[in-house]
Amino acid sequence: MDKNFLIDKLHNDKNLNDEELRFLIEDDSSDDYLFEIADKIRKEHYGTDVYLRGLIEFTNYCRNNCYYCGIRRDNKNVDRYRLTKEEIMLCCEEGRALGYRTFVLQGGEDMSYKDEDMCDIIRTIRAKYPDCAITLSIGERSYDSYKAYFDAGANRYLLRHETANEEHYARLHPAELSLKNRKECLYNLKKIGYQIGTGFMVGSPYQTTDNIIEDIRFMQDLMPDMIGIGPYLRHADTPFADMENGSYKLTLRLIAMLRLFFPYALIPATTALGTINPTGREQGLKAGANVIMPNLSPVSVRKLYTLYDNKICLGDESAACRNCLEVRVKSAGYQIADSRGDVKR
Ligand code: 5AD
Ligand code: FES
Repeated sequence: MDKNFLIDKLHNDKNLNDEELRFLIEDDSSDDYLFEIADKIRKEHYGTDVYLRGLIEFTNYCRNNCYYCGIRRDNKNVDRYRLTKEEIMLCCEEGRALGYRTFVLQGGEDMSYKDEDMCDIIRTIRAKYPDCAITLSIGERSYDSYKAYFDAGANRYLLRHETANEEHYARLHPAELSLKNRKECLYNLKKIGYQIGTGFMVGSPYQTTDNIIEDIRFMQDLMPDMIGIGPYLRHADTPFADMENGSYKLTLRLIAMLRLFFPYALIPATTALGTINPTGREQGLKAGANVIMPNLSPVSVRKLYTLYDNKICLGDESAACRNCLEVRVKSAGYQIADSRGDVKR
């Protein structure tokens, strides 16, 4: 098969069969051409803008026990913390001063934040920052809960599907979690009116090329506004401590392919990508990504929100990250946008 021909085909009509997709995923020749086309498409839709999302990791309590994740409930080596509404508001204040117009409230599945608590936090942020987007990333909850948060003022929701294959899902998660429910959550969020983000880890344990093809097929059905992927990275205190990290190169190739499949999408150059390679996020931008999610959490709790080992930016104040990113984004040939960065369909 001719690789460049397939890249052009993906660019032109997106109509690739599984065999063609497999070849594109597995073959590493022509990555430069792939990145070039992906960058061209990104520029057609979003120019050279890069959107920042201020990430507030407000709780590391989690009721779940995903085998890959450092804050899984069975990890007794984690000091658990929760931020109060006042502490969250301080993060937003700092973020707004640094120019962020999206706040992402991310946490483990911590049911001590009841619906009314979440709604109170959302309403308070909404009232103080009417021009900002509020993104939630707090896992699986009911339709009614999602609806209540939306009505309180949340606009976007991030929930990675993790893998679209049942058997693979069952190898990454205990039996109490189901892919069916996760997918249902995503369709519910979409129906309610959120801009939704999904995604998966590249090179998660037992992942096959077929699984990745299924991930793409699932997303072609869901048509998410945002797609987050990053390499799987091991965490020493999980059942997967001895598993290999995901591939940096494959992550970049998949970012570029996702840009071609979903030209309109918001695609982050993730912290995991910046962790596996010191200039990973810059390379991610050049391969088609257009979002970065800097950490706005108080420095005192940052090292406690460790999904994987060696996470970057743990000691850096938010302002330091902001300056660091300015330089990095520029060096890659883009600039930080000051708009909210909503999806352009
Ligand atoms: N390596 C990389 N990414 C991880 N995530 C969780 N654990 C890890 C890990 N060990 C990702 C999951 C989750 C997101 C918040 O972080 O995909 O959805
Ligand atoms: Fe946080 Fe560079 S982005 S220090």
